[in-house]
Amino acid sequence: MELAVVIPTFNEAGNIEPLVQRLEHSLGGVQWEAIFVDDDSTDGTAQRIREVAMRHPSVRCLRRIGRRGLSSACIEGMLSSHARYFAVMDADLQHDESLLPKMLAALRAGECDLAIGSRYVEGGGVGEWGSSRRIISRVATSLGKRLLRVPVGDPMSGFFMLSRETLEASVRRLSGVGFKLLIDLILSMPALPRIREFPYVFRPRLSGGSKLDLRTAWDYLMLLADKSIGQFVPVQLLSFAAVGSIGVLVHLAVLGCALDLLSLPFPVAQSAAVATAMVSNFTLNNALTYRDKRLRGWRWFRGLAGFCAACAVGALANVGVASYMHGEQNGWLLSALAGILVGLVWNYAVTSVLVWSSGKPR
Ligand code: GDD
Ligand code: MN
Repeated sequence: MELAVVIPTFNEAGNIEPLVQRLEHSLGGVQWEAIFVDDDSTDGTAQRIREVAMRHPSVRCLRRIGRRGLSSACIEGMLSSHARYFAVMDADLQHDESLLPKMLAALRAGECDLAIGSRYVEGGGVGEWGSSRRIISRVATSLGKRLLRVPVGDPMSGFFMLSRETLEASVRRLSGVGFKLLIDLILSMPALPRIREFPYVFRPRLSGGSKLDLRTAWDYLMLLADKSIGQFVPVQLLSFAAVGSIGVLVHLAVLGCALDLLSLPFPVAQSAAVATAMVSNFTLNNALTYRDKRLRGWRWFRGLAGFCAACAVGALANVGVASYMHGEQNGWLLSALAGILVGLVWNYAVTSVLVWSSGKPR
């Protein structure tokens, strides 16, 4: 097998058949396979892939249940193949499959280790995007390039090809978080790979809708964090801490309203603020930090109770440590920060075991 085209899918039923036809058209003369990695789509995507595979033996589907994530899907798809080269592309026909032979030729000739289909080089473009999506993409791209010093025109591209050696050299260091596998790959290589970019114009989606949402943006920030300071701090702890900081803002906002607008007595206002911040922290962690293990239905309430109980103990530890430090003649700021740090680590450690670890992901 020379080339495995790995295609992550989540609700892409209408795009499978047209994509396979186009791949077949473009990849004549190449020994190739298409590996769809489907995260339990609800629109019958896996069924559609099975139907197409009956007619095309070079097509197969890797099904993941109880999991989500574009990057991790692509990684597992590549790992499931014996091919010499791997291409990653979206299912919705937004990527230009006619570039695949050129990318493959460049890799085969040893001209590069990584071939990238690029919107942001001469000859490429984003096609029919609205101005907000254009701006977001530009900002995210330049943030990624600056923070990580990646010398690539389109590090956010979801369309690229690499050799098995390039994959093997980086696979154990991949974060696998979120949408941006290419940045993850480049930064997980021991040395900067030789890169060649192939311009193309991003096409409109054929069928279905985009899965890009606020969580994707959060995941992107977490990927950047993991790639810059991840060797010192686990990314989930960072996410937990970021949610905690949002919680502080929620707390202060509720406290301010309760005191100024409702003229409640301070203890009542403070209690309302603590309760709101706890519920908001729990909700955000459940949706962002522990998205894979998200609690729903009655488990959500049980989780909230466990979270509040763990955080109450964390708060005691926080006050204990801070008071001790303060008693030892440390300044108030240092003492408070030490207390916060201990509380944070405690809350993170305990809730990750007690609240979000149990059983299968849901
Ligand atoms: N298995 C799996 N699991 N696939 C997913 C998931 C998931 O959780 N989320 C999305 N996908 C699949 C979609 O079905 C689609 O085939 C592909 O990943 C891209 O998702 P889209 O929702 O179409 O993303 P987009 O068009 O907004 O963004 C794409 O283009 C950007 C620019 O090149 C992605 O490729 C981005 O990574 C890329 O930056
Ligand atoms: Mn798309």
